[in-house]
Amino acid sequence: MTASIRKAVFPAAGLGTRFLPATKAQPKEMLVLVDKPVIQYGVEEAVQSGVPNIVIVTGRGKNAIEDHFDVAVELESYLEQRGKNALLDEIRKITQPINVAYVRQGEPLGLGHAVLVTKTLIGDEPFAVILGDDVIDANPPALRQMIDVYERVQGPVLAVERVAPEDVSSYGIVAVDESVDLGRRVHRVKDLVEKPARADAPSNLAIIGRYILTPDIFAALEATARDGGGEIQLTNGLRRLLRERPLYVYEIDGVRHDTGNKLGFLKAIVYFALRRPDLAEPFRRYLESLEMGVRPR
Ligand code: UTP
Repeated sequence: MTASIRKAVFPAAGLGTRFLPATKAQPKEMLVLVDKPVIQYGVEEAVQSGVPNIVIVTGRGKNAIEDHFDVAVELESYLEQRGKNALLDEIRKITQPINVAYVRQGEPLGLGHAVLVTKTLIGDEPFAVILGDDVIDANPPALRQMIDVYERVQGPVLAVERVAPEDVSSYGIVAVDESVDLGRRVHRVKDLVEKPARADAPSNLAIIGRYILTPDIFAALEATARDGGGEIQLTNGLRRLLRERPLYVYEIDGVRHDTGNKLGFLKAIVYFALRRPDLAEPFRRYLESLEMGVRPR
């Protein structure tokens, strides 16, 4: 069977202003969760979901991302000569299973625009979009769950999560058609609205950073007007596409961390450190000592 989804787009051209000054000279995608840059979690998810072709949308100051996914010949021979085989394996695991292509966005004109610049590289086939900020711990991996839904419904699938009412204004929010039964966690979209005020939100189903899109999204984005800030929003492009074909949402079964804000980033570090066999025990003891207000160990 040929794979239905072969390419995953990682928009990584945003300025990461919420993490300044850390992101002044370093891309936010390279901020580290325990010992891996954030973007590597997403790339591993794509590979584990059977999608090894990675398209990264970059911009100025993002060279560290390209270096990270490039073969580091000198580093490899250094580790090899010293018999540091476990580390060598770790380093090779980053590059061996993937093909990476890069495309520049030029100016950060919004997420919809970032997707649009991949048009030539994607061509006429369905593809995934992963926002690396959303790191999702799930089994099967979040993208794999979505591809399984895509294969069933044969249309664009957006990942959603139910958020607290006070948070709806930070997300694209969907209204769904409850009268269509598509099985557990899958809904058909009635409408989408980008960052609504709490009072205007049609639901609390928020679009999170995983999409399976069909190539007709490119024409929809080309026809989408820029918003007040001069950006092309992906949600607005999807809204236009909804006039032409059904869209679906899927509630992912897993734990999501929004590492694009400071609190979410800190929570993700604690979460993933506690899942690491080499760190869990001493780190848990340290956290417990903080909770009890005794002297940190
Ligand atoms: P965000 O708005 O969360 O990221 O965009 P940002 O702009 O980098 O961060 P802040 O808000 O200034 O702190 C969501 C995703 O879309 C990408 C970002 O890199 C991020 O992965 N993006 C956003 C682009 O690739 N191009 C854009 O023009 C805008």
